[in-house]
Amino acid sequence: MTPRIAVLGAGHAGPAIARVAIAAGYPVSVAASGDPEKIALITSVLVPGAEPRWAADAVRDAGVVVLSIPLHRFAAFDPGLVAGKIVIDAMNYWPPIDGVQELFDDPRYGSSEIVQRRLARSMVVKTLNHIGYHELEEELRPAGAPDRRALGVAGDDPGAVAVVADVVERIGYDAVRLDGLREGRRLQPGGPVFGVSLSRGQFERALGAEAA
Ligand SMILES: NC(=O)c1ccc[n+]([C@@H]2O[C@H](COP(=O)([O-])OP(=O)(O)OC[C@H]3O[C@@H](n4cnc5c(N)ncnc54)[C@H](OP(=O)(O)O)[C@@H]3O)[C@@H](O)[C@H]2O)c1
Repeated sequence: MTPRIAVLGAGHAGPAIARVAIAAGYPVSVAASGDPEKIALITSVLVPGAEPRWAADAVRDAGVVVLSIPLHRFAAFDPGLVAGKIVIDAMNYWPPIDGVQELFDDPRYGSSEIVQRRLARSMVVKTLNHIGYHELEEELRPAGAPDRRALGVAGDDPGAVAVVADVVERIGYDAVRLDGLREGRRLQPGGPVFGVSLSRGQFERALGAEAA
């Protein structure tokens, strides 16, 4: 199955995610916060093959939605837009960039748990947040390559996790499934695998060492 992917966010991360998804054979739409006319040029240059659309149109016929918007914009994001959808949460909470966000400033919860609570009618899966946008194309490898990088995948809905793990594998990474969205905290900034290029074995050992 090759679901259509809607990438919300046309800044740094969004176009890179869209490009690797297109290269993997997915149909991809890209949306920013407003009129697709505003991102038509950037999309045609940076993400050839992707369709610039209004967010609502992009999401409507998508099987997977990627949220790659700055977290400080999330409070204004309409949960109804992605109701019933599998949502990849590629966002990070960076107070130096996002400012202190009351919604996310609760150490008891990972940022994706807070995203899931707000997007109560969506199936949120955390991944793609812990790899730099510039690395995403440089480090992808075919399955079985000895230097293939691993990426964590964390979610509470097993069906959604399976779909997203398949996306991660097909774009060129080994998908390491974590035990639920709560474990996604370990993929966050400051965690043992954030921004680090690790093979599956190294990734699993890094998580295991932290848990020990
Ligand atoms: N940079 C990286 O290497 C990297 C890697 C992995 C994950 N991330 C995460 O990805 C997120 C975005 O980072 P970035 O560096 O790409 O940010 P960025 O360059 O500032 O991109 C912002 C984009 O988000 C769009 N946007 C804002 N609100 C939106 C909404 N409600 N619906 C649709 N689009 C919306 C903006 O559109 P307008 O211009 O129309 O407002 C703009 O296109 C952050 O949470 C970051 O932590 C970043």
